[in-house]
Formats: sequence, structure tokens, C-alpha cells
Amino acid sequence: MRFVITAGPTREPIDPVRYLTNRSSGKMGYALAAAAVAHGHQVLLVSGPTQIDIPDGVDFLPVETAQEMFDAVRLQCAGKDVAILCAAVADYRPAIQSPQKIKKAQERMTLELERTQDILGSMRSVFGFSGVLVGFAAETQEVESNARQKLQSKGCDLIVANDVSRADIGFDASENEVLLVYEGHTFLLPKAEKLAVAHHIIQAVIDLV
Ligand code: PMT
Repeated sequence: MRFVITAGPTREPIDPVRYLTNRSSGKMGYALAAAAVAHGHQVLLVSGPTQIDIPDGVDFLPVETAQEMFDAVRLQCAGKDVAILCAAVADYRPAIQSPQKIKKAQERMTLELERTQDILGSMRSVFGFSGVLVGFAAETQEVESNARQKLQSKGCDLIVANDVSRADIGFDASENEVLLVYEGHTFLLPKAEKLAVAHHIIQAVIDLV
């Protein structure tokens, strides 16, 4: 099968030298790409900036901003059987990107932000994607019910939910513990190395197909 997988953070420029980003290392998304290749699938990895090596056998498309990731996924999801959106995409970006480095003229300054486009929420309704759709949910409270709401509102077949209030899993950790949230039930994948968790997620996707 053909997979498109997103990974890593996005960077939203404030001026030529500053940007807004988050703590995603890319480890979870890259592990998913490696696991899918190990299962014999074709993988396109669309990734924000990370410090980790591209897994062998993966086609790689680097992006920086949420808009670039949106455009890449819009173009690349056509003809794919599975989309797994693991990237930590910025929900907001600076409304104005200064062409010059901002000088420290005032004691306080306000940065106005505007919404970015929702890639996961566009997959069915805007891009017309009809394959298996897997989203992630990074939650700090009511993990399962928030994930179930995302499952329904974004037309996903599966949401992989992690509790990102914990330091030992989630953002920038080498391990993860996730809930697989389906329409009718929820399944816990206990804490393990991200590659091991990724193999279980890929198997869950194959079972869905
Ligand atoms: O990269 P690591 O350090 O290994 O960390 C892994 C992880 C914590 C980043 C990963 O496990 C994870 O939870 N990824 C999703 C992060 C996130 O942005 O979650 P969210 O609940 O805010 O978003 C829900 C879903 O919408 C996600 O599938 C996300 O990719 C997607 N999204 C979000 C915003 C946006 N503008 N477009 C999107 O498609």
C-alpha cells in the first residue's frame, strides 16, 4: 500500500531570524515511516525540520511552515491508500511576517496570530481523500473523549492519542504510550519505544484495511 505520513514540528516565521515552533522531535512520525517500510509499504514522509536521519527506503519531502505542509499533503495524498498525520502543526502563525529583523524598541510588544489551515480536517472535505485516515491527538486532559471528538469531527478511521502532559512519553521522548481510539472502542498500547509502538499502529492500520 501507499502511505503518506507527516512528522515533526512546523516553523512559523516572525521575522527573518525568529519563528514560532513546538517541541516535536519527529521521532514518532519517523518511527511510523520506518515501520511501514518494514511491513513492505511505500512511504512518503512529509516532515517539518528535525535532527533525525531519514529512514531507509522512505521518500522524503521536507517542509517548514504549516502552509507548506498543507500544500504538500493536498498534492501528495492523491492516490495514497493511507494517510497518518503525526506532525505537530502550528495552529496559529504570526499574522504579519516582518521582512526586517524586529528591533527591541519598546518594553512590551504584542504579536498578533492568525489560524493556520487544518490539514487533518481538510483531508475528507477539501482534498477528497478516501483512503484510511489516521490522525493523532496531543492532549493534556480528558485524552480519550477529546480524541473521540477529533475522530468524529475530522472523519478519521482511527485517532492515536497521547498524553503530552507527561515528560516520559509524547513530545521529544524516546517512548510513547497511546490510546487507539476507534468509532466503537478504545485500545491501549502500553509504554514502549516509539518504533515498537509504531509497528503496532501500522498493524492496526492494516487490520482496518
Ligand atoms: O515528534 P515527537 O517528539 O516524537 O512527538 C510525537 C508527538 C507528540 C508530536 C505525536 O505523538 C503527536 O501527538 N502528534 C500530533 C500533535 C498535534 O498537533 O496534535 P493536535 O491534537 O494539536 O492535532 C490533532 C491532529 O490534527 C494531528 O493529527 C495533527 O497532525 C493535525 N493538525 C493539527 C493542526 C493543523 N493545523 N493541521 C493538522 O492537520
